[in-house]
Amino acid sequence: MTSSERAVATTENGMSRAILEISGLHHRFVHNGDSRLVLHDLSLAVRRGELVCLIGRSGCGKSTLLKIVAGFLTPAAGECRLDGHLISRPGPDRCVVFQEDALFPWLTVRENIGFGLTGRQWPRVKLDREVERFLDLVGLGEYGEHLPRTLSGGMKQRVALARVLIREPQILLMDEPFGALDAQAREEMQELLLRLVRQRQQTILFVTHDVQEAVVIADRVLLLDPGSGAIREEMQVGLDRPRDRNDVRFHACCARLHQWLRV
Ligand SMILES: Nc1ncnc2c1ncn2[C@@H]1O[C@H](COP(=O)(O)OP(=O)(O)OP(=O)(O)O)[C@@H](O)[C@H]1O
Ligand SMILES: [Mg+2]
Repeated sequence: MTSSERAVATTENGMSRAILEISGLHHRFVHNGDSRLVLHDLSLAVRRGELVCLIGRSGCGKSTLLKIVAGFLTPAAGECRLDGHLISRPGPDRCVVFQEDALFPWLTVRENIGFGLTGRQWPRVKLDREVERFLDLVGLGEYGEHLPRTLSGGMKQRVALARVLIREPQILLMDEPFGALDAQAREEMQELLLRLVRQRQQTILFVTHDVQEAVVIADRVLLLDPGSGAIREEMQVGLDRPRDRNDVRFHACCARLHQWLRV
């Protein structure tokens, strides 16, 4: 199956139609006179409400792909459409969460979350109520007046998550968002993410190096292959939620992803 056929098949097999459609994407970086092709005829489709994890070796182009979808980079060829609209620049319909938190250090937790609502023509009382709701949702109700530097890494990522979810983007782009956290904080964030996004049918494209993380959270996992610069493998996780990390089928999924990464 070619990558373009894969994009079409994915949409046709799905229950809902694709909200993100990427077709024939090419991207090349030129550095010190050397030109390097990173993405080559990459196509994929993500359905509304789907949580898709992207894995692949370091340097294979995962962040590059996310940056193109975010509108931070312009592809050399091909196109990305969100809800049918061609992506050509950053927009409020897409939000990005990186590994390193990007909170404003001079704003309190409450102000950082409220920043996500900048531009909304809402009455003050409604803005305040919404910020309080999200503070509580991420379990930081008592930390509203704290500055980011007084928080742990996990707490900062909860603020970062609240700040993007409050905007209700069409798609959330997450680039190893929990990569800097210890194992326990990481599992807590995975559970929090699932709790917050499943009921609101939030569409997510999530990059991770951690195959367990992918199997815990994803509906579908894709392998970006450094050799071809395209999606080479695809796995529908299909396990019941909440997922049991000790289940033999869970281990089988992880083993398959490890195998992909070894080839
Ligand atoms: N601005 C840039 N200029 C030149 N080359 C770049 C630039 N950004 C990325 N690259 C190169 O493009 C390739 C893909 O980078 P990218 O950051 O997308 O990889 P990645 O899959 O996200 O890796 P990792 O898993 O380590 O985060 C790498 O070889 C990288 O060196
Ligand atoms: Mg990266």
